[in-house]
Amino acid sequence: MANIVCSRVDKAYGAVNVIRDFNLEIEDHEFVVFLGPSGCGKSTLLRMIAGLEEISGGAVSIAGRTVNDLEPRDRGVAMVFQNYALYPHMTIYDNIAFGLKRMKVDRAEIDSRIKAVAGTLGLEPYLGRKPTELSGGQQQRVAIARAMIKTPRVFLFDEPLSNLDAKLRNHMRVEIARLHQKLKTTTIYVTHDQLEAMTLADRIVLMKGGAIEQVGTPAEIYERPRTLFVAGFIGTPNMNFLDVTARSDGQAWLLEGDGVRFRADRGRFEIKEGQALTLGVRPSSLLAASLEGNRENTLAGIADLVEFHGDSALVSFRVGGKEIGALVPAGSRPTTGAPVAFSVGGESLHVFDRVTGLSMLREES
Ligand SMILES: Nc1ncnc2c1ncn2[C@@H]1O[C@H](COP(=O)(O)OP(=O)(O)OP(=O)(O)O)[C@@H](O)[C@H]1O
Ligand SMILES: [Mg+2]
Repeated sequence: MANIVCSRVDKAYGAVNVIRDFNLEIEDHEFVVFLGPSGCGKSTLLRMIAGLEEISGGAVSIAGRTVNDLEPRDRGVAMVFQNYALYPHMTIYDNIAFGLKRMKVDRAEIDSRIKAVAGTLGLEPYLGRKPTELSGGQQQRVAIARAMIKTPRVFLFDEPLSNLDAKLRNHMRVEIARLHQKLKTTTIYVTHDQLEAMTLADRIVLMKGGAIEQVGTPAEIYERPRTLFVAGFIGTPNMNFLDVTARSDGQAWLLEGDGVRFRADRGRFEIKEGQALTLGVRPSSLLAASLEGNRENTLAGIADLVEFHGDSALVSFRVGGKEIGALVPAGSRPTTGAPVAFSVGGESLHVFDRVTGLSMLREES
């Protein structure tokens, strides 16, 4: 098993820089997820670590050894792709054995390793079948078996579940989590699905435009997004955003915008008088409030859409021209057209500089 270090890694295709100064240390046994929108460079990075793509600048090391010039097969990594392409004319047994046979591994050794891997992944009943005789999830397990059998020091997954339907995806996600608990192999997992990232990762590396936007545990990223981009990317339904300006009344910060005024603890944010800010509030942080009385720390409007989610409902209304969503228990959802009001506790406010997009939350708060 192995740690992985990326230092100052760059990737350029001709004049276009798609990865810029990427620095990351992944510990032995860690499960790290690269998350980000399409085109942000997740696959490119993974392929550079695997050795399938040349590194334009900087260094990648695995288990303390720089691997820039090592062939993929000498890096001790195994990769599982979205399109896992099993050999259709071969049995599952032969599909799993293929890589080892090419490496001239002894037949008895191959056989015992296949039995062990098939046992771990629940594939024993299918070893004699052809790929077309398996379900999508079973085929994906074969692809994982093919990677596992090489007993790699590092697992690299590139969107391995994105070809599966929603139910199977959930099932395979749990299986991958269990597999990692059992094997503890250092893993990098690429996805643009935030649920996969939140549930699987020890740490998430959230990327944007070829660079790291934030690295942290799922809870850190959710609770303390470092930028507006992170805040908007993580969390379903999406965080609500409002334009406000900061003013001090001597004791607290008043964050004022079109139709809203929030009072925030002075110690919580690092902001300046008159600063243009974007205020962020998660839909789950809105609590039903009285329709009368004090409108400070309150978002109020007319429910123009009520989406039933089963145990909850998403209520949409407009505040100063901005669409706001509130997540409420399904049993207390309003009807469309009804007036609604929600209070927001100061501790669930996020504040970002409107120009730089950086969070203004104090480090220690
Ligand atoms: N061979 C190539 N030549 C030129 N540009 C490339 C090449 N391969 C990838 N790119 C560019 O590099 C950037 C990163 O691509 P990459 O495939 O790593 O993104 P990704 O984050 O994996 O996206 P997705 O979620 O869609 O898979 C993209 O802008 C892409 O257009
Ligand atoms: Mg990709």
